[in-house]
Order: sequence, then C-alpha cells, then structure tokens
Amino acid sequence: MEKQTHFLSFFLLFVCLTMSTVDAVKGWHHHGSVKLFIFGDSYVDTGNLGKFAASWKEPYGINFPGKPSGRFSDGRVLTDYIASFFGIKSPAPFERRNITRKSSEVERGMNFAYGGTGVFNTLVDQPNMTIQIDNFQQLLDRNVYNKDDLRKSVALVSAAGNDYTTFLLTNGSLQYMPVFTKDLVKQLAMDLKRIKWLGVQNVLVTALEPIGCLPALTAQNSHKKCIQSFNSISEFHNRVLKHAVKKLNKESKHKSGRFKILNTYKSFKSALKKNHHINGRLKLKNPLEPCCVGLDGYSCGGVDEKGVKKYMVCKNPELSFFWDSVHPAQNGWHAVYSSLNSSLNRVHKSF
Ligand SMILES: *[C@@H]1O[C@H](CO)[C@@H](O)[C@H](O)[C@H]1NC(C)=O
Ligand SMILES: *[C@@H]1O[C@H](CO)[C@@H](O)[C@H](O)[C@H]1NC(C)=O
Ligand SMILES: *[C@@H]1O[C@H](CO)[C@@H](O)[C@H](O)[C@H]1NC(C)=O
Ligand SMILES: *[C@@H]1O[C@H](CO)[C@@H](O)[C@H](O)[C@H]1NC(C)=O
Repeated sequence: MEKQTHFLSFFLLFVCLTMSTVDAVKGWHHHGSVKLFIFGDSYVDTGNLGKFAASWKEPYGINFPGKPSGRFSDGRVLTDYIASFFGIKSPAPFERRNITRKSSEVERGMNFAYGGTGVFNTLVDQPNMTIQIDNFQQLLDRNVYNKDDLRKSVALVSAAGNDYTTFLLTNGSLQYMPVFTKDLVKQLAMDLKRIKWLGVQNVLVTALEPIGCLPALTAQNSHKKCIQSFNSISEFHNRVLKHAVKKLNKESKHKSGRFKILNTYKSFKSALKKNHHINGRLKLKNPLEPCCVGLDGYSCGGVDEKGVKKYMVCKNPELSFFWDSVHPAQNGWHAVYSSLNSSLNRVHKSF
C-alpha cells in the first residue's frame, strides 16, 4: 500500500514536470520570459488609439515599421525599447487583439495605454488610468492570465503629462498647482498599488519629463532654450512622486518585486545636452527643434480639405531628439532608454 502511494506521488510529480516542459516548449505561458504590461499615454501607446488619431496617419511610423502604426513617433517609442531590454517583442495593443488565453500574443503581456490620456480624465475622451487597469483586471477575471503567469512580470506606467495640460488649459491657476500635483500623485500611487495588488511583480513608473523643453512650449523662443518655470512643475511633481514611491515600497509586504521610478526627467535632459554638442561644437540640428512641423495652424500629419499636406518633415529624423511638438523621435527614445539601462538592470536582477 505504502509503495503504491509512493509510486503514485512519483508518477504525479513526473507528469507535472513533463507537462510544464511541454508548456515551455510550446511557448504558451512558459515562465522563462518576462510579461510586460503597459499603462498610460502616447509615450507608450503602440496602437490602442483609434484610426482617427494622427499616430495612424503619415508621416508617423516612416522609419519603423515603415508605415503609420499607432505610435506617436517616426519609429519606436519607449515601450518598444523596454520590451527589447527584457528580450521580448513589444506587447500587443489591447484594442487590436482577439484576446484568448491560447493566443501567442498574450504571452508577452499587453499594452493598455491610450494616447492623450492621464491619471484623471483629460480633454481626450479615452480610457483613463483607472479604466486601463480595469481592462487588465477583466483579463485576470477571465483567466487570460493567472497568478502563476505573472511570476515574472513588469508594469510600465507613463502618465501625468496630459493631466497637467488639461489642468493648465481648464484651470490654469498656478496658485493651485501644488494642490493639483498632490492630488494627482495620490491617485497615481493608488493606481500603482492596485497594479501590484493584481499580481504584477515590478511596477515601473516614469518621472514627468522636463515639460518646459517640449517644442510646443519652446516655440515661443524659437526653440532656443527650455522654459524653467514649466520645468519646475516637472521637478515638483517628481519630488512628490519620489516620496510616494518610497512610501509604497515601505508599505509593501512582498519581499520580491518593487515599485521603481524611471528617471525620464534626467534622461531627457542629458540626451538633449548630449545631442547639442559633438566634439565641442554645435551639431547642425538643434535638439529642441522638432523634426515634423505643422504649417498654417495644422499639426504634424495635418492635411487640408483639398488633401494638401500641411506639414514638413526634416531631412534626417535620425538626428532629431523630438519628432513632433510633444513626442520624442525614435532617436530621442533610444537615447532616453540608453540612460535608463542601469535602473532596468536592477529590475532584471530581481527576477
Ligand atoms: C478570435 O479567436 C477565436 C479563437 O481563436 C476565433 O474562434 C475567433 O474567430 C476569433 N475572432 C476574430 C474576430 O478574429
Ligand atoms: C476615470 O474615468 C471614469 C469614467 O469616465 C470615471 O468614472 C473615473 O472617475 C475616472 N477616474 C479618475 C481617477 O478620474
Ligand atoms: C483649480 O484647481 C484647484 C486644485 O485642484 C481647485 O481647488 C479649484 O477649484 C480649481 N478651479 C477651477 C476654476 O476649476
Ligand atoms: C548604459 O548607458 C550608458 C549611456 O549610453 C552607457 O555609457 C553604459 O555603458 C550603459 N550601461 C550598461 C550597463 O549597459
């Protein structure tokens, strides 16, 4: 009798081992590769926004994948580089997929980000951060992902830029800005906590970029210099965020996996500085100047009612940091990503 039990448990163990090997070979949900979940705005959206968006029109996507693909860039965006760091293909956009547990596309994670959105509702009527996380939770409820699938998982969260734009355009009272920042970060921290609570191991959140360096704002000085009063908004946001993330890590009961800020503020600044000087002299291309510029009040990608293009694209997008008035070009994102590598290495080592 005892022997039989022994045999039975050995057999069951063997079956389990064999089955997990088969799973790994087949590639469905094996535990070797990282799953990446993306939440946020146009800095990370790879195609969730509908076809009405500029990101689905020429000249977006001319360098990668060679045609418009729903990315606000001439090529890759931050998501694509972070995915490559973890050795996976960029996660599929939530909107564009037929999502079932068996689909090979769910294996590398999922992108829930929509261009124009924020932590709160913005001027763009698209899913805010709360709704994006609800979408993720629904996939967990449907068992598209289970707890085990999330053992090696990373979330990348990029938000706040559009919240500030919305605040400045609808409220605009600088006097209330610190209050707004605190409310915003409070909600963002709850969102990060919820993503972790749902089972994602490592939660990365981007700092707010130096908004005073965006071409939309430096246009007023012909892209000669960043505007410090706007960069101060970013600096304050990032200080409050740093404090909130520290608190989240302190409260987190899980030993493994952490909340982490990707310091995109510093990365933008150093990439803009680096691009500016080559061998001690000014490079031809001013890094604060966007490559794609709208004409006669149109934006990059704009076409008038006669079908005439109302924008100009620079000769060498690969030399530009910025693609349009608010978005880095692929070259810019590559530079930003390169300076984030040491933070990313620490996340990778935690697996
Ligand atoms: C979605 O996937 C299921 C299962 O693979 C398939 O039966 C169905 O036809 C697909 N639907 C679409 C719209 O592609
Ligand atoms: C997100 O959007 C939903 C639907 O519009 C809204 O009910 C909710 O309050 C929003 N969340 C936040 C944090 O603003
Ligand atoms: C502006 O924002 C502050 C802080 O969020 C708020 O207290 C105030 O009521 C807002 N004012 C308007 C006109 O929306
Ligand atoms: C990280 O990027 C910097 C800047 O590109 C580079 O100098 C450094 O060697 C990189 N470090 C690693 C570990 O890849």
